[in-house]
Amino acid sequence: MSERSAASLSAPNDLRAFWMPFTANRQFKKAPRMLVAAEGMHYTTSDGRRILDGTAGLWCCNAGHCRPAITKAIQDQAAELDYAPAFQMGHPKAFELANRLVDIAPEGMEHAFFCNSGSEAVETALKIAIAYQRAIGQGSRTRLIGRERGYHGVNFGGISVGGIVNNRKVFGTLLTGVDHMPHTHLPGKNAFSVGQPEHGAEIADELERIVTLHDASTIAAVIVEPVAGSTGVLIPPKGYLKRLREICSKHGILLIFDEVITGFGRTGAAFAAEKYGVVPDMITCAKGITNGVIPMGAVLTTAAIHDAFMTGPENLIELFHGYTYSGTPIAAAAGIATLDTYREEGLFERAADLAPYWAEALHSLRDCPHVIDIRNEGLIGAVELEPIPGQPTARAFQAFLDAYEKGIMIRTTGDIIAMSPPLIIGKGQIDELVGTLRDVLTGLK
Ligand SMILES: Cc1ncc(COP(=O)(O)O)c(C=O)c1O
Repeated sequence: MSERSAASLSAPNDLRAFWMPFTANRQFKKAPRMLVAAEGMHYTTSDGRRILDGTAGLWCCNAGHCRPAITKAIQDQAAELDYAPAFQMGHPKAFELANRLVDIAPEGMEHAFFCNSGSEAVETALKIAIAYQRAIGQGSRTRLIGRERGYHGVNFGGISVGGIVNNRKVFGTLLTGVDHMPHTHLPGKNAFSVGQPEHGAEIADELERIVTLHDASTIAAVIVEPVAGSTGVLIPPKGYLKRLREICSKHGILLIFDEVITGFGRTGAAFAAEKYGVVPDMITCAKGITNGVIPMGAVLTTAAIHDAFMTGPENLIELFHGYTYSGTPIAAAAGIATLDTYREEGLFERAADLAPYWAEALHSLRDCPHVIDIRNEGLIGAVELEPIPGQPTARAFQAFLDAYEKGIMIRTTGDIIAMSPPLIIGKGQIDELVGTLRDVLTGLK
């Protein structure tokens, strides 16, 4: 034992040591919300209550919780091959999962590079984009273009191309050579749109302005979330993504879709790229890849990008990038079992089938107090509240706390309530989620 006496050691249930991520630590520790178990659509709290999961954890448990096939795959893999070096060695399940991913990805995505999170997938894709441009003789293309209100994880590349001020402002100068397109949120024109809003495709033309400003020969890639999630669910206006694709293709700029939340059935298709009929050059994904159970992320790329690196002597490493835990056996086993579960239970199709019911239920909240917009796509929903004057975020956060007390899990960002239930949700549970949210909204000050 260290110099600290036994008496001074923290008790196991002491909450001080754990510095919680993206959490109001002091508020939480005064009134903790502890989850101790989960099954299917529900969490169980430490005080023995069942909470209906309206957020699939953090947009990740798309098949619901503690699914037996995924649990067993992890247990079996841990007992058979716990870890294999990720560099210069392989194991079968990483190859199998890569094949399975490109099989469900949009036509043209032919390779998968593994990492451990959405943030790492974004860093990986940005690095591949710049290195690819250099590999094809376009080394002056180093600039990266993101979008206002974009969320691409928390690492330096991701917060640089991201557009959420609180995630950026205290972290210094970030990456240089980054610019941002305007966001697509037009509440004045599009409030209460059901599905894709009508107005805003022309916002994509701002990319032309940025290209004119910097010159295409300096720009490597554009990265966007097809549906912006963390910033409060912004659904792409009709025609917007197609226009972005056209501008990128015209100027030799790579288009990266960050599908960390939209991947794996969330929009009613395997990927949002398929849903919207727009194929990017790279897709970043994570979360639902293992049903959120084991950390894993991936970058899917075209053959053109991959093959540009496959030159030079065959004994040399082609891309100096990777993680100790890139495609570990346990994560790969979890990923395969997760894709099996999605396929066997037809969960992507189920999300598409349920989407109209979900939309109607959500939009029934339009007459509730404080509601200024409702947005939906697939099994994604947002209810935007009028902020309390001088106290931004306070009203929605109160809704989150009240919802938890009333037995439903929602998420809030700013004054926006976001929901993304597991794709196994039933119509009765949609009614319960929305009905409880109605009670919560009605009780808010
Ligand atoms: C679009 C997007 N990109 C990246 C990330 C970061 O993922 P992670 O938290 O796994 O690093 C998220 C997380 O919510 C996300 O929504």
